[in-house]
Formats: sequence, structure tokens, C-alpha cells
Amino acid sequence: MDEENFEDVERKIKRYNQGHLLDYYNNIQDENVKMKFENQLENIDFELIDSLYKKTTLPIKDENVDIEPIDYWDKERLGGKYDFYEGIGVEAIKAGKLAAVTMAGGQGTRLGHKGPKGTFDIGLDSHKSLFELLCDSLKESGRKYGVEIPWFIMTSEENNEQTKEFFRKNKFFGYEKNVHFFVQGQLPMVDTEGKILIGENGLIKEAADGHGGVYESLVKSKMVDKMKELGVEWVFIGGVDNCLVKMVDPVLMGLAIYKNVTGAGKSVVKANPHEKVGAFCKKNGRPNVIEYSEITDEMAEAKDAAGELLYGESHILCNLFRIDAIERMGSNPLPYHSAFKKATYIDKEGNKIVPDSPNAYKFEAFLFDAFGDLDDMVILRVKREEEFAPVKNAEGVDSPETARTLYNNLHKHIEIK
Ligand code: UD1
Repeated sequence: MDEENFEDVERKIKRYNQGHLLDYYNNIQDENVKMKFENQLENIDFELIDSLYKKTTLPIKDENVDIEPIDYWDKERLGGKYDFYEGIGVEAIKAGKLAAVTMAGGQGTRLGHKGPKGTFDIGLDSHKSLFELLCDSLKESGRKYGVEIPWFIMTSEENNEQTKEFFRKNKFFGYEKNVHFFVQGQLPMVDTEGKILIGENGLIKEAADGHGGVYESLVKSKMVDKMKELGVEWVFIGGVDNCLVKMVDPVLMGLAIYKNVTGAGKSVVKANPHEKVGAFCKKNGRPNVIEYSEITDEMAEAKDAAGELLYGESHILCNLFRIDAIERMGSNPLPYHSAFKKATYIDKEGNKIVPDSPNAYKFEAFLFDAFGDLDDMVILRVKREEEFAPVKNAEGVDSPETARTLYNNLHKHIEIK
């Protein structure tokens, strides 16, 4: 960075009370670390971080939001229309119009797994990792429709190298020419005074910016351009932690195409009114998701005349978008949510501090906050036992054990058929 630019950055740092970063920077001896630190200083949006920190003390609820249930289609009750929608979807898939994106920026920390979540072995007899299970299902669909579906994998700065190494070691599960990696963005973490932290590696401590970063990262990394070159018109975006994720679904795609919407999402019926999942809804007339942490007990338990939960369509992170919608969502900034986390850091005296309780804020964007940019969205209710087996916790609900059982049950069922 030239002198003038550096002075500019210095002014910004001081304006937002982050002077400790300059003190730290001036004492860095290692030229390589110093260069990386300087690069971070140049790229951080100090104004944004300041405003995000200030918001951590404000109530989260926005009182001016009008929330209503959303209409949905039940895949089991499409009757004669099932084949019609499926036919439209199959034609588009066969024409190479679909790409799949897997958001794999997370680590397996909650599972006690040291490494990218996608490399986790859920304990099947085959000992296949989540990545391999997902790849298997893409290859199988490809065979069925006579195409090779391109697979875009979002990693984070934290796990990018390890993820790529894992794929190399496993010879890309035989899918190498269709795999494309891109890295999501990150934001600095701040302490309870709003001061940006220094991490153990001597650099500014940054953390992945949430799965909402997926649209912007797809655009910035030029993956959207690559998709267009490949003739892709529709993009499925899913998480890495659902071992039954069905990335290629002609009925979902056919329904979206026929209804002329730019987005579609799959839901499963909530296991109980207080299950820890988000639920599809409308906010101020636009599609959205209400998180389990935001919904009141009254709303969570409300039922319609048929006895079904009004907010019972769980958002399972299985969504499909037209490519122009991704470009639009990728250029509109999303709000950030803060999470209070434990973060190891280096203090002013250069000591490494390992906290035993949360001490820092991490800022994340949620993918569904962009749904409001879509005029409308088709929601398709699917069967939980066929499409949703998340691996979130080491034990109990949504654990490797529950996912394994669901996976084995479904695959047994498929063999018998
Ligand atoms: C999420 C959804 C919830 C949904 C549930 C379904 C939120 C706030 N809630 O909950 O509505 O019902 O999943 O399983 O997201 N990821 C990244 N980069 C990030 C953060 C996450 O790639 O920065 C990926 C993870 O690798 C994972 C997926 O996004 O594949 C889900 O992330 P996670 O943070 O585990 O979401 P949940 O809180 O479980």
C-alpha cells in the first residue's frame, strides 16, 4: 500500500477507535505477517464493523414486520400434476441447465470433529464422508438424466486448503472435472468493547461471514460467469451437513419453471412446534424464514382449520434459484446477525488468552434474508425421511446416529423398490 493510502487507512482506524491495531502492526517483526496484516487493514470496512458492534446492544426484534404463513405445495399431493412438473424439470436437467452449490464453510467443531464438516464420517459401513455421500447422489442423478451436473463447493478461509487436500487425496471421488471451489468472505471479530481482536497467528481475527455470503461470493469469484458459460440457468444451494440432501429434483425445478418464479425452497413438516429449525413464512408480503429463536410460542403452536401448524414448513437449506436472482441477491447487501462466541486472542501485552466463556462477537449473514428480494417463491413440502438427515450435534437429535439410521432406512427402501 502506498503512503497516501496508508494514511487514509490510519485515519479510518483512529476514527473508529481501533488504534490498538496500529500499535500491534508497528511492532510486527516478520515481514510476511506484516504484509498480510497490512492487507487486512486495507480491506476491512471499519465503518461496517463499528455499526455492527453498536447493533449488538440493540433489541433484535423488528416490531414493524408483518409475518404471515406462506402457501406451499405438497409433493405427495400433486396428483396427476406430478408427472407434468417432473417432465418439465427433467427436460431442463437433461439440457444441462442445473448446477449444484454446497455450502461447506463450516467446521465440524460441534461434532467433535477437527476439520471441515464435509470431511466428517457419519459411521456408515462404507465410512464415506459427507462430501462423498453428496457426490454419490450427484453422480447417480447424472447417470439417470444423462448429464454431468457441475458441483460448486463453498469453503471458508479457515478450511479451504484442508478441503481441497481432502478432495485431492480422494481423487475427487471420480468427479474432478465437475468440481469447482470458491471461498466465502469473512469479517473481523470484536470484543465486548467493540475492539477488533488479534488472533493466535498474529493476524486480525476474522471469521466466516455466514451462509448468506454465498450469493456475493458466487458473483465475486466469477462462479456465476462460469455457470453461464456452462449453460446453467438454475442453481440449487444446499448445506453440507444433510446427508440426504436431494440436489437434483426435477419436480421442484419443473414447478419453479412452470410457475415462473425465480426461487423455490423445499420444506419438511416440523417434527414438533418447537423443533430448532427455521420456518418458511411471508414477511411484509415477501417470502422469508422465521428462525426458531425469533418465533413466539403462540405462533409456533398456532394451527389451521385442518389441524396443521401454520408455521410448520421447516426451512431445510434446500433452495433453488434462477441464475439472474443469484446475481441480484449477490449485489444487494444483507443484514448481519451477531453471535456471541468464545474466541482465543492475543492481548495488548502479547499474551495468548483462551477464554472459558463467550467473549467476542462474530457477524454472519443468513441466506434466507435475501429471499425478500424474490417477488415470489414456490415452497415444496417433501418427506423428511427421504430428504432431511442433518448432522449437527455429537449426540441426541440431529446427530451422526440419527442421520445414519435415516440414511440406511432410505437406502434399504430404495434397494427393495
Ligand atoms: C440452519 C438454518 C435453519 C435451518 C437449518 C437446517 C440458520 C441461521 N438457520 O441452522 O433455518 O432450518 O439450518 O439444517 O442458518 N455454512 C457455511 N458458512 C458459514 C456458515 C454456515 O458454509 O459461514 C454452512 C454450513 O457448513 C452448513 C450450513 O451452512 O452446511 C448450515 O449452517 P449452520 O450454521 O449449521 O446452520 P444451523 O444453525 O444449524
